[in-house]
Amino acid sequence: MNEIYPIFDQMLSRSDKEELLGQKGVMLWFTGLSGSGKSTVAIALERELQKRGLLCRILDGDNIRSGINKGLGFTDEDRRENIRRIAEVAKLFVDTGIITIAAFISPSNELRRMASDIIGAEDFKEVYISTPLEVCEARDVKGLYAKARRGEIKNFTGISAPFEAPEHPALSIDTSKVSLEDSVKQILTFLGIE
Ligand code: PPS
Repeated sequence: MNEIYPIFDQMLSRSDKEELLGQKGVMLWFTGLSGSGKSTVAIALERELQKRGLLCRILDGDNIRSGINKGLGFTDEDRRENIRRIAEVAKLFVDTGIITIAAFISPSNELRRMASDIIGAEDFKEVYISTPLEVCEARDVKGLYAKARRGEIKNFTGISAPFEAPEHPALSIDTSKVSLEDSVKQILTFLGIE
């Protein structure tokens, strides 16, 4: 019973939402270097989930760093605030019964632990997109690695800022070795979805 605001007890619960949707909420927390394929895998996975009638929400730089986290940069402090806000938002989606994918570098175990603590460890599934730095740098889709090498971007993850690989990810996918289709299949299998 909520002593201060008893009306909150009348709010529908997560399981009410999950029953309505016919699915369970879960957090798929993608971590990996810039250019590792986080967003590409997330988008392909979302399409496969949609085909199966499952509701998914992707959180990534496109919809977060240009909106709620506009103005945050890449210092340790800003990355921390970036991830903290993302985790708080993600929790709302998970609690609505939605399959929620976050695709952020989230470069340290500490940051990912914070996200897991906010969201709840039982819902938090860490997916390491483990594509090696050499491959990400060779891809250099946005030309940022070249700029970082020239010193034009400070604190660039993998070049002038650290990336700590997860210790015990639920899944690890190297997109330079595994096709996009198989990457998605691995995640669907992990979720127990055919
Ligand atoms: S973090 O570390 O989790 O806060 O980073 P994230 O929010 O995922 O943002 C990463 C994307 O921002 C671009 N970018 C940088 N990345 C790393 N370091 C620096 N200094 C930097 N500056 C800009 C980069 O394109 C990342 O894009 P992705 O989508 O990961 O390739």
